Amino acid sequence: MEHLVNTHEIVLTSPLDMHIHFREGAMLRVVAPLSAEAFAGGVIMPNLTPPVDGLDRLLQYRTEIDEAIAGAIFAPYMTLFFRAYDEVELRAARPHIIGVKLYPAGVTTNSEAGVQRIRDAEPTLAIMEELGIPLLVHGETSGFVLDREREFLSIYARLAQRFPRLTIVMEHITTRDAVALLDEYPNLYATITLHHLQLTLDDVAGGLLQPHLFCKPIAKRPEDRDALLRAALAPHPRVMFGSDSAPHPVSAKEAAGCAAGVFTAPVALPLLAEMFEQHDALDRLQTFVSDNARRIYGVTPPEKKVLLWREPWQVPARYGDVTPYYAGRTVAWQLAQRQSRAGP
Ligand code: DOR
Ligand code: ZN
Repeated sequence: MEHLVNTHEIVLTSPLDMHIHFREGAMLRVVAPLSAEAFAGGVIMPNLTPPVDGLDRLLQYRTEIDEAIAGAIFAPYMTLFFRAYDEVELRAARPHIIGVKLYPAGVTTNSEAGVQRIRDAEPTLAIMEELGIPLLVHGETSGFVLDREREFLSIYARLAQRFPRLTIVMEHITTRDAVALLDEYPNLYATITLHHLQLTLDDVAGGLLQPHLFCKPIAKRPEDRDALLRAALAPHPRVMFGSDSAPHPVSAKEAAGCAAGVFTAPVALPLLAEMFEQHDALDRLQTFVSDNARRIYGVTPPEKKVLLWREPWQVPARYGDVTPYYAGRTVAWQLAQRQSRAGP
């Protein structure tokens, strides 16, 4: 893949964010342009209220996204919220989706309509395997919070065995054990977020509680973060960048019951550049943020060169009423496009 790296700038070719929450309405209009500025495409999560679980609703949502990003070079790769779809529904949806996202019921934001028992999902998974539709999974049980992902790994293993031709993406993995599972089954893949490459539980709750770093799955132990970092920097051929950028209004984050989600879309590429540079791996960023996803999903994103400059950039305190990751802090890299803009 053609790309350029030197000490002052990087040109990424069609970077992709393979896990994003765009929301709807006013929030969508604030956050979607920020992703569309930095990325050439991304996988749009369906956990709206009510969930995106039918083709009509999905096409309507797609239109709303297209309006919000008007003029930007950005491919929204749409997903359906998992339910017991039949073959007719999935055949009709297939040209419009990149996959189906499965949430166990109740494990995260707007997942109440999720799956109660994974076994009940199997007839639909068999059809998806037949039709070549990838399965994206929020892999957490409802057990003790630090063990939820690890407890889910046996479910991933069972699904990978039962449906060997189904592409299964373990979304936003947070543990060393999940990284290790990738090497057990050839049809398992994973997305890794920016924040899970940087944070441990100590950053979230070790001092004053940090609501803007609270997300599901919660950040884990240093050795987990380090295993994720090794997988991203290599990069492991079956991992992709997926920010899980999940905006919530300040009022929902700085509240007695804090909503889960870290809003990273506007800072993702600058911080990834900074991190890959610190690890002497800038020449591998293209593979992590684009090439692996293209190969894994077989997508051809729109051609888009994204230029990053090595020039300090102070992250805005707010985008609309959302506090971004790294708010007010300085990052060593910035998107070149931002230079010409007065503010967010
Ligand atoms: O922290 C999270 N926020 N994790 C999820 O799985 C969902 C997301 C959201 O939609 O806010
Ligand atoms: Zn998510």
